Amino acid sequence: MTNNILTRRDFIKLMGMGAGTLTLSACGLIPSASSAPTTAPVFSTPFPPAPVSLAVDLTAGRATLPIFSGAETPVWRYQPSVREGSAESIQELSGSYLGPIFRVRKGQRVQVRLKNDLPDPTIIHWHGLLIPEEMDGHPRYAIAPGANYDYDFQVINRAGMYWFHPHPHQLTALQVYYGLAGLFIVSDDEEAALGLPAGEYDLPLVIQDRTFDSQNQMVYLANGMMDSMIGFLGDTILVNGAPNASMDVKASAYRLRLLNGSNSRIYKLAWQDGTPLTVIATDGGLLDAPVTRDYITLAPGERVEVWADFSGRTTGSEMRLVSLPFSGFSSGGGMMGGGSSLPLGASLNILSLKVGGKGADVNPLPARLSIIERHNVKDTVNQNNPRSIALAMQGMVHTINNRLFEMEAVAQDEIVRLGDLEVWEFANLEGGGGGMGMGMMNMEMPHPMHIHGVQFQVLSRQITRGNESTYQGLTGGFVDDGWKDTVLVMPGETVRVLVRFESYTGMYLYHCHNLEHEDAGMMRNYRIES
Ligand code: C2O
Ligand code: CU
Repeated sequence: MTNNILTRRDFIKLMGMGAGTLTLSACGLIPSASSAPTTAPVFSTPFPPAPVSLAVDLTAGRATLPIFSGAETPVWRYQPSVREGSAESIQELSGSYLGPIFRVRKGQRVQVRLKNDLPDPTIIHWHGLLIPEEMDGHPRYAIAPGANYDYDFQVINRAGMYWFHPHPHQLTALQVYYGLAGLFIVSDDEEAALGLPAGEYDLPLVIQDRTFDSQNQMVYLANGMMDSMIGFLGDTILVNGAPNASMDVKASAYRLRLLNGSNSRIYKLAWQDGTPLTVIATDGGLLDAPVTRDYITLAPGERVEVWADFSGRTTGSEMRLVSLPFSGFSSGGGMMGGGSSLPLGASLNILSLKVGGKGADVNPLPARLSIIERHNVKDTVNQNNPRSIALAMQGMVHTINNRLFEMEAVAQDEIVRLGDLEVWEFANLEGGGGGMGMGMMNMEMPHPMHIHGVQFQVLSRQITRGNESTYQGLTGGFVDDGWKDTVLVMPGETVRVLVRFESYTGMYLYHCHNLEHEDAGMMRNYRIES
């Protein structure tokens, strides 16, 4: 264990943070991040000379919104203002705490000035984007209240739905929870040629869960340490920031772009009438061909895009997107049931779509969407010796190879070479039985693992004996065919991914995207060297 590990007392203090409070600065938890630089440092990698085509100010600040009837809800959000470029590049979700939707093209150079109007340090991570380390939102770049941070990067990712959210040390979960997150949608020529549903037929949908008190105030970590060990589970499902979400659609085809923006909840998404889902894209953009699933398993941080044709539906009919029940997780009962009236695996209504009159003519969905060059395990530099990443519960926290996050540290086994293709093996093999009497609880936890700075491919999944029943409840919904930046690693499971470090050198992060796990230390640096 490192000396940076949280002591049990620190941890309990962290978890005892007041429920529903919006200001945490007072509780002495703000780490040294507030001494971080307030301007972007010099680039370590030569910057592409593309002209700036979009410059935006994003102010992270407080607001109140009428989410329910009655009292307004205090939220945190990103307020955009376009300085340069077309206003269509920034789409606001009216009435929502969610940040704007960037719509950019591959190759564009984007500048964003983050202004911190919050009472706490913050920084933005551009989840899934391939950008230099200074642009990536590492917590060491967090800026103090009142300070600015200038982002300037070229979009080199292929078309896809990426997203952005805060990433300050130990405050990510809380800041996302109170509303800070937005979408970053990239298009390119290859995608444009497909004639996929566009304009009003392209619907980004962010799924989240929150808990509100009787005064419509958001309540965070009401169950203290338990919530934090498992991950926060809210009792209200919101889509694009709205509870009981429903939308009017036309009898036409839609591109539904789904992000699980929840802190810890996993969804098992399906149409209520059993219609299979047609999946066209995942985290890193289009699949090479559409695939169908009876349901889709979507863990925090993951995206999936669904092509949905309502043209044969009668006017006035309703299609409901639901989360099907699944079982076997710690929060399902007993001591770990906590206070959430909606445990992990509960059956949920997500969104209802009311089908209206005829819309645009439906272009048939192309049988071929893209060409994904498959990495070959034989081309890896460590085929016989995968980089193993052991996920475990130790004491009250989840660790990565027995370590917790350290702001600057990179261990010997966390250094990779630019250009190398590697096998990374996430092994989630230690459930209960850890220290501190955890053996008496069932602490088998799923961990959605995210790697910054890359897009990877899933090579294989393997489940250990004794874990099959929980596994089988969700495994049919994995979509591993395309590019990923976040992959769910189930209890008892080993997931191997093929990852090439091909964009930039520098220090990046890999971590669990259960945001409570991440904030409690289930995160590490790794360094890409030339
Ligand atoms: Cu979306 Cu480091 O996370
Ligand atoms: Cu985790």
